[in-house]
Amino acid sequence: MKDLVVYYSLEGNTEYVANRIKDGIGADTLRLIPKKAYHDKGFAKFFWGGKSAVMAEKPKLEECKVDLAAYDRIIFGFPVWASNFTPPLRTFIEDHAEELKGKRFAAFACQSGAGAEKALAKLAKCIGIVDFELTAVFIDPKEKQDKSKDGQIEAFCGALGRREGI
Ligand SMILES: Cc1cc2nc3c(=O)[nH]c(=O)nc-3n(C[C@H](O)[C@H](O)[C@H](O)COP(=O)(O)O)c2cc1C
Repeated sequence: MKDLVVYYSLEGNTEYVANRIKDGIGADTLRLIPKKAYHDKGFAKFFWGGKSAVMAEKPKLEECKVDLAAYDRIIFGFPVWASNFTPPLRTFIEDHAEELKGKRFAAFACQSGAGAEKALAKLAKCIGIVDFELTAVFIDPKEKQDKSKDGQIEAFCGALGRREGI
């Protein structure tokens, strides 16, 4: 049983969780990088990122060489943008639609307030599944690190592990 964490992260929170999952359950990770980087500061960050999410854009990604056939389960990770998942995931899912068929799916979202449940439902729909086998939501886990959040990530890793019978 091999897991791949496929994620996008603008400011490091999602990457923080992805790396914890990598260490926690021995998953591989794949960070999606848009060819044209999103703004990461001030008004432009929220304006252009929010617009891209609301418009359900599919930004072109830097080439990612991954053999999805090597993985049984894909764990998607993303920051919530305007109550949606981040657009680079949409590009990845569309580009790899055939290879993703028949996989198992889990997902986690990072947010600062609300919207993750809607975003997770939209992501499931985009993949073409009814639901994920497991999900988790974290509130800015890197920016506002504390013991309870780290414990929450550990619990998610434990559940991912248990699901695969480790
Ligand atoms: C364009 C944009 C839109 C956002 N929209 C939401 C939102 O709808 N709900 C929310 O709780 N947080 C929202 N956030 C905050 C991020 O989801 C949150 O800070 C997340 O932890 C960032 O993850 P990252 O560091 O991996 O990029 C938004 C951030 C940006 C840049």
